[in-house]
Amino acid sequence: MTPAERHADLLARIRHHEERYYVLNDPEISDAEFDALMKELEAFEREFPDLVTPDSPSQRVGGRPAEGFESVDHQAPMLSLINSYNEDEVTAFDERLRRALDDAGVDAASVEYVAELKIDGLSISLTYEDGHLVRGVTRGDGFRGEDVTSNVRTIRAIPLALAQPVPGRLEIRGEVYLPRAAFDRVNREREERDEPVFANPRNAAAGTMRNLDPCEVARRGLSAFTYQLLGPPGVVPGRHADTLSLLRRWGLPVERNWQRCVGVGEVLAYCGKWKDARRALQFDTDGVVVKLDDLALREKAGATSKFPRWAIAFKFPAEQATTKLLRIDVNVGRTGAVTPFAVLEPVRLSGSTIQLATLHNEQDVARRDIRPGDYVLVEKGGEVIPKVVKPVLSLRGADVVPWQMPHECPSCGSRLHRPEGEAVWRCVNTACPARFRRSLEHFASRRAMNIEGLGEALVDQVVSAGLVRDFADLYHLAEEPLAALERMGTKSAQKLLQQVDGSRRNDAWRLLYALGIRYVGERVAQVLVGGFGSVDAIEEAPLGHLQSVNEIGPVVAAAVREYFDEPRNRQLVARLRDAGLHTVGEKTAPEATGGALAGQTFVVTGTLNGLSRDEASAAIEALGGKVLGSVSRKTTHLVVGAEPGSKLDKARELGVSVLDEQAFLKLIGRG
Ligand code: IVH
Repeated sequence: MTPAERHADLLARIRHHEERYYVLNDPEISDAEFDALMKELEAFEREFPDLVTPDSPSQRVGGRPAEGFESVDHQAPMLSLINSYNEDEVTAFDERLRRALDDAGVDAASVEYVAELKIDGLSISLTYEDGHLVRGVTRGDGFRGEDVTSNVRTIRAIPLALAQPVPGRLEIRGEVYLPRAAFDRVNREREERDEPVFANPRNAAAGTMRNLDPCEVARRGLSAFTYQLLGPPGVVPGRHADTLSLLRRWGLPVERNWQRCVGVGEVLAYCGKWKDARRALQFDTDGVVVKLDDLALREKAGATSKFPRWAIAFKFPAEQATTKLLRIDVNVGRTGAVTPFAVLEPVRLSGSTIQLATLHNEQDVARRDIRPGDYVLVEKGGEVIPKVVKPVLSLRGADVVPWQMPHECPSCGSRLHRPEGEAVWRCVNTACPARFRRSLEHFASRRAMNIEGLGEALVDQVVSAGLVRDFADLYHLAEEPLAALERMGTKSAQKLLQQVDGSRRNDAWRLLYALGIRYVGERVAQVLVGGFGSVDAIEEAPLGHLQSVNEIGPVVAAAVREYFDEPRNRQLVARLRDAGLHTVGEKTAPEATGGALAGQTFVVTGTLNGLSRDEASAAIEALGGKVLGSVSRKTTHLVVGAEPGSKLDKARELGVSVLDEQAFLKLIGRG
């Protein structure tokens, strides 16, 4: 054998064993034997460096992205899925889809689906050119994602070269996830180093993908499954089931428990089976994805701007456990809202140990009669923090008494206020240390000023040490006192200062969002800077002028005005400007939409997917509509998100029109 042949033979053998181990979970050799093969390859490549190609498994951990990840456009948007939570919703999906196909002239008495497990990770797009992996990109907002190629290459389940040579350019989409065993190991290690642990494998996977050090990413042990192929028509099979088989033949990881289902009955049986069977899997799954098998029919069914009409996600019911409620503490948020939370005896739930759970507000605790010392049922759905469902009354001790909401702020001691008609108690002291800490965390967060490393723990440290008293102090931090903080040191201090320095160059709208003005989310911040051209102009704008900007209603305008009417806030912005932050942005031409919703009244309830309730209200107001708090006969439309509650019942009772999120988005012209 020539050296080139020997090298090719070694690569093929290593890929074979990578596949047995990482894709099939069924190794043929021991870890030690595999390591020996890798050593042999490395020694061989030292002798014949010319033979090293980017496809060699020795090249999985290579160059790191220098500063951050570059953002890139997706070739086709990465859509999301509509969720369903019970059999009826899946059945309704099947009926809807068959009706749509019927209308399109297809005989759709019973259609064929493929049911797959829904992997609880983060979506990834992989590009192969002439069979070589050239790029890995995260989903991002569905239109643009981050180029994380150097991290994707470290995932050994993903082949650097396809098993069969496929000419041209292919895009393969799937999910990156952290197997449960790796998640437990990573968290154990973090606990030992006194670092915050990840709440669940999904967060751990997402955090790992954003890590700038591929060596660290490789150590974490991510894995992946693929389920979608975009490419030239001659390559992509006409049926999804055949795509899955093809991906597998190319050496790509495909979750093996997928099933072809004829009619919705078989789909429901699959969902029912995996509701319990999923516990034995080595990865987290939060549901089933049901997809039309025939790609030509998918075309006919079509998609909205966000979701395909030919697929649906069935979410498994949340897992529950019973544990003791040790006590109820309260937390102070950046807006001053003081909210209770449950401190629990640690209990295993959905693969992680939980000891905290949310409780909405004082009235909610009283209404559900949840008392410190009770045994409580806790539940974990898709959200990071579990919730308390109810007390287990049969286990209640004789000495257990109702909980009392504190009347003073646990941080600054000032008396709490509860405005008429609101459920939430607030600390109104703007100088409250707890409020400031949470505001600073928001200021530094990824979507605001994106100061990496300045999370909860470090915020607490810099504030406690008196190094940062307002946002502007961040830009005058010196290295020495930072380095002297516990667990910091010179290197970490320099890194933080670099991050802070870099944040000076952020767009002006990010700064406006980072200030934490009530109702000013990312979208509103962009609209305002787009409308006025600078934070400075917004600062000076009279109320009427603020409201005249498309999409900005009276609620938002008043909050912005109130913020800038406070001299302390104006001084803060001036200091930030002096520190070199961008306050000038780009003015964009206003769109003329007029008052399309004039004379109509809306009520918004439940959790919307793509926008917050405040953003929804602001959009309605911008189009001349009115937003009210409760449903009456005079309500034009009730806009409902997930878990809508009693307002939906009321609307149905009164015959008020009910809009789901899609219909609402369409109505406001964003559908
Ligand atoms: S198909 C156009 N299949 O779930 C639909 N998605 O809630 C493309 N996901 O963004 C998605 N497992 O990240 C599909 N077997 C699976 C999946 C899956 C997990 C994720 C995916 C998607 C999200 C939607």
